[in-house]
Amino acid sequence: MKTPKFLLPVATAGVLALTLSACGGGGGGGTTAGGGDAEQGLDGRGPITYVQGKDNSNVVRPVIEKWNAAHPNETVTFKEQTDQADQQHDDLVQNFQAKNANYDVVSVDVVWTAEFAAKGWLQPLKDKMALDTSAMLKPTVEAASYKGTLYAVPKDSDGGILYYRKDLVPTAPKTWDEMMGMCSIATENNIGCFAGQYAKYEGLTVNTAEAINSTGGSVLDKDGKPNLNTPEAKAGLENLVKAYADGNIPKEGITFQEEQGRQAFQDGKLLFHRNWPYVYNLAVTEGSSKVKDVLGMAALPGTDGPGASTLGGHSAAVSVYSKNKATALDFLKFITTEETQKFYATQGSLAPVLSALYDDQELVAKLPYLPVLKTSIENAVPRPVTPFYPAVTKAIQENAYAAIKGEKTVDAALSDMQKSIESASAGQ
Ligand code: GLC
Repeated sequence: MKTPKFLLPVATAGVLALTLSACGGGGGGGTTAGGGDAEQGLDGRGPITYVQGKDNSNVVRPVIEKWNAAHPNETVTFKEQTDQADQQHDDLVQNFQAKNANYDVVSVDVVWTAEFAAKGWLQPLKDKMALDTSAMLKPTVEAASYKGTLYAVPKDSDGGILYYRKDLVPTAPKTWDEMMGMCSIATENNIGCFAGQYAKYEGLTVNTAEAINSTGGSVLDKDGKPNLNTPEAKAGLENLVKAYADGNIPKEGITFQEEQGRQAFQDGKLLFHRNWPYVYNLAVTEGSSKVKDVLGMAALPGTDGPGASTLGGHSAAVSVYSKNKATALDFLKFITTEETQKFYATQGSLAPVLSALYDDQELVAKLPYLPVLKTSIENAVPRPVTPFYPAVTKAIQENAYAAIKGEKTVDAALSDMQKSIESASAGQ
């Protein structure tokens, strides 16, 4: 039985480089660092396009306007994708496959770095293209690297947060059981109790991994092997399955991505909601928000205390097919300055990648949850790091979805997840 050794947590990235060297870098057949397309356009300057998913937080346009005012010959055009992670991924893949020179700088979800780098689509950020990442949170830099090379610059981080209604729940629950015990309050108020993201897409992988990690389980063991047939993993997935079956997660939760859940919570239809930090700004500023003055934020609940968030976030990468890489590099530097990062945090409540900002008194005064968020990110668990991530996430999503809907037992779902992740590595 071959071990799917490419499935290694970020923390063991050194080992990853070694074990992967035997398998051709993921079968991409793309450009390796230092050759082909990666050699072209390094001194190129001129207009570029920046590609990112829907700018829910309204931070991208102001930053681009500022850049454009200062760089009239190197303007940036914003290509905005949908707000759905899987669609963003597929759009990038199609454009990379077509060698689209107009996708100069792209936003890369932390889970896509390995796949895109192995395919040779991302410009290695070294030599002429080098960037200083020493002031950034370590997990964000690791998530932007592959086989020891930086392929993107961390742009915004993400850690899961439990949003709750302070008016109805005076003290946030620390454990899952405590939270479920409080669902009677939701019933009394005729609202739903809890929801995260359970539609069949990347967000469900995030939520499933969080459920499993929060009961002491893990998707992968220390050696990077799938580890799903364990009592701890079972307890985690079972929490979601039971909550959905008994209505503590409302039925419509199975259709929720980030935005639908945020909307339901802001409309006052949920007592507890798992989402990312971007929700804070919208929930306190949007005119229609019913939770402006009653918004509580806490760590995700676990078994005996706080649970474990899944590490999220995005980095910005330069396409190897870009013709204006010198401009692209300057733009990468621009979006990671302290000033831009502060703007992202104050305007969009995005999680900064610069470590010092979490202790910046002025910022903490405006965003009091920053210290909690920093701890959440530093302790967050990365999703499997592999060029074959699409197959891995599919195995997690499809089986978790079937289990939550009651179409598969938890045992069968976990054992199928295990098998599918193992076979995603077959032949490597
Ligand atoms: C957020 C996270 C990202 C995750 C996605 C799932 O955008 O930053 O890492 O994959 O949500 O929907």
